[in-house]
Amino acid sequence: MAFRKRRSPVLFPAAALGAAAFARTAFRALRRLDLRGRVVVVTGGSRGLGLLLAEEFGRYGARVAIAGRDAVALDRAEQRLRALGIEVHAVACDLGDRAAAEAFIDGVASVFGRIDVLVNNAGVIQVAPMQDLGVEELEDAMRSNFWSAVYTTLRALPHLQRQGRAARIVNVVSIGGRVAVPHLLGYNASKFAMMGFSESLRAELCHGSAPGPRVTTVIPGPMRTGSIYNAEFGGSPQREFGWFSLASSIPIATIDARRAARQVVAAAREGRAEVKLGLSSHLLSWAHGIAPQTTVRLMGLLNALLPSPRGGAGTTRGRDLHAPAQASVLLRLSNEAARRNNEAPPEAAR
Ligand SMILES: NC(=O)c1ccc[n+]([C@@H]2O[C@H](COP(=O)([O-])OP(=O)(O)OC[C@H]3O[C@@H](n4cnc5c(N)ncnc54)[C@H](OP(=O)(O)O)[C@@H]3O)[C@@H](O)[C@H]2O)c1
Repeated sequence: MAFRKRRSPVLFPAAALGAAAFARTAFRALRRLDLRGRVVVVTGGSRGLGLLLAEEFGRYGARVAIAGRDAVALDRAEQRLRALGIEVHAVACDLGDRAAAEAFIDGVASVFGRIDVLVNNAGVIQVAPMQDLGVEELEDAMRSNFWSAVYTTLRALPHLQRQGRAARIVNVVSIGGRVAVPHLLGYNASKFAMMGFSESLRAELCHGSAPGPRVTTVIPGPMRTGSIYNAEFGGSPQREFGWFSLASSIPIATIDARRAARQVVAAAREGRAEVKLGLSSHLLSWAHGIAPQTTVRLMGLLNALLPSPRGGAGTTRGRDLHAPAQASVLLRLSNEAARRNNEAPPEAAR
């Protein structure tokens, strides 16, 4: 009597999943952009994630253009990139100013003759209860985080479109563009706007009859860039610095900035639609996707644990706050990142 072999019920789904994963990897590899000789613009490339992105793109043979407002920090970044053998064009300018942003893009095109990749990374953050943020601060957040990207993208688009599908636009948004984290009103609003901008670009440029640049939306959770010393704190600045800098330093909740930069460049090369950076980004995106109102309520509970409003506008930079908090061992990882990533940490954090 012949016995028919019984196949395990999990075998077929497992094989199908394996084949799908293999096909996806092969498809991505086929689309991977060769960066040699390409021109990559990184806004806010003077420090933090932007500087690491410029390095990472340069490591693959790209020529890079960077911009930031602080000429001294920008000069340090330029020297560092040159020392790595990267061809670099650096311009100190405020990208929240339309004429300056357009002049920056025109300058890159005239210096290098082309633009292949635009990374909209520039950004500011103000941490304070909403009652302690003035209209000026909210306008600043919109200018640096949203309008800067609109100005650079629209100006660079004709150059990018000349490269067709080989061009890339990378928008560094934030989990704050998906979930409204308390005490970050201007930041959240500008990043939600940026999320809409980025997804609209993807819909209109990557699909349809004349596919243009591929658009990648980057959604980082907290990253250890060291930018806590360049962030602005209002309300009770010292206490706001306390919770925010801790949340930016806890290993499991945050991602190392260099690792984040590698993931962004890999996603950009493959023209992926979206990349989430770090566990917090994955968990919060997932929670907001399945239960948006519950997530907002949870953020309300978190808000109750944060410092109370003081009823006054105005902010202080992280590096100008009280030294002992900055010397705290709990900030060891952020302090190391600040030293590595050209964030010019204060003496107490060195
Ligand atoms: N660090 C995080 O945990 C985290 C999490 C989620 C998303 N992100 C996003 O990731 C990006 C990089 O963050 P990061 O931590 O590396 O910040 P960062 O160290 O503060 O760097 C921000 C960069 O943007 C530049 N910039 C800001 N406003 C500008 C303007 N108006 N014109 C020109 N340049 C401007 C800054 O230079 P100047 O100040 O000299 O102009 C600097 O080069 C930002 O968009 C941020 O919102 C960060």
